[in-house]
Amino acid sequence: MKEASSQGGAHGEISGGQPPESTANSLAAGVLRRNGLKSWTRPAPTLYPHQWSWDSAFIALGLAHTDNSRAARELESLFSSQWSTGKVPHIVFNPEAPPRSYFPDAERWNSSALSPHAPDSRHTSGLCQPPVHAIAVNRIWETSREQDESRASRAREFLRDNFPRLLNWHRYLATARDPEESGLVTIYHPWESGTDNSPRWDGPLEAVPVGEVPSYTRYDLQHVADASHRPTDAEYDRFLWLLELLKQTRYEEAEIYESHPFLVKDVFFSAILVAANEALLEIAEAVDAPDEDREQIQTWINRGRGGLDGCWDQEFGLCLDRNVRTGEASRARTIAGFAPLISGGLGRNQMDELLQTLDSPAFAGHPELRWPLPPSTSPEDPGFHPRSYWRGPTWPVVNWLLWWSLLRAGETERAERLRRDTLDQLAEGGFAEYFEPFTGEPLGSGEQSWTAAVALDLLASGPDEP
Ligand code: DGY
Repeated sequence: MKEASSQGGAHGEISGGQPPESTANSLAAGVLRRNGLKSWTRPAPTLYPHQWSWDSAFIALGLAHTDNSRAARELESLFSSQWSTGKVPHIVFNPEAPPRSYFPDAERWNSSALSPHAPDSRHTSGLCQPPVHAIAVNRIWETSREQDESRASRAREFLRDNFPRLLNWHRYLATARDPEESGLVTIYHPWESGTDNSPRWDGPLEAVPVGEVPSYTRYDLQHVADASHRPTDAEYDRFLWLLELLKQTRYEEAEIYESHPFLVKDVFFSAILVAANEALLEIAEAVDAPDEDREQIQTWINRGRGGLDGCWDQEFGLCLDRNVRTGEASRARTIAGFAPLISGGLGRNQMDELLQTLDSPAFAGHPELRWPLPPSTSPEDPGFHPRSYWRGPTWPVVNWLLWWSLLRAGETERAERLRRDTLDQLAEGGFAEYFEPFTGEPLGSGEQSWTAAVALDLLASGPDEP
């Protein structure tokens, strides 16, 4: 069965006006339960049968509201495959996944054989993804503090165990991925951004000459209703060629920096790191971490905000990625440009400019949108495509990030509107991976775990909630 067709179920069950919150809660919790395995949760029933890094972080954030210890296990299971460099791999392979269900598989990555830094116990990919984890750990802490003392003390223990792992992860990003100390994280592959086929990467990818890619079959296309929802074959050839190049370096950071043709300062990833460092600072408080760790984290926060400041584009009213190889900005209008909202600490003027961009017809103010939610790529960008993955569809996890950032910035009314519109969209379309922005049609995979997870967090965070 094609995965997208299973959306009919979720859609059917919760359509017909917004369901009462308790129904929405139990529907969302049901998605996480059905996708759950022993200690972690598949991002989607068939399209993504392994553990993905940032999916897991969002999943833990949602589970924090239904089952705190399950939420903690989700992250512990991911971090048990952390590389000795501190890197948290973007995929931890599930040895029990059905054969030929996902490509590139563990064999193609071959990371345990190639790199002495990869874990022996599990096969992983050689890349990483945006570091939402500390934000999720902090949510686990917040939700358990509200409960009885025994849960709070278990959560404190979880924080103590995980603080060093999170610190190593952030240190890896602040050093190996930013040898220039620019405050901006360098990615080696569009998959690291989490926004795989975004027009942000068109320029830097075009500059990569594609060599001989060993033959492969795309299993992802079996799991969606229509191939147009996913990246194209030409994009996949480039993705796989970059993977071959990384393997040639045996995933050695210094060599990658020296020879790899795709090195880009990703503003969205960098902003998430700043927000995650703020969460880590709170965790550091809770576990009474040494002053030098706290100072280090604060330095990363300041440096990150400074780096993002330098990527501001006045004409677009957005922040733009920068190609390390050429020094050029990637002139694409995408939701990544709202990075400074996520990293926080903005002055009133820059905040107003960003909000103006958000409300403009280039994003959430486009008159034909089904819901006033920002498309992943602006309909005014030449790379826009309303059905293709990160080229236009609306993503509930992105709405969550913007909502959470608006709240942190004190923009409560606007945050509340975004929360309501996101929930309305899900009430109509189910817990899909992403949505066609003009029709609200659910696209990609149905029953997507992180969509259900952010719904749980949004439902728990209404103005009437404690
Ligand atoms: C996919 O397979 O679509 C992922 O985004 C790559 O990690």
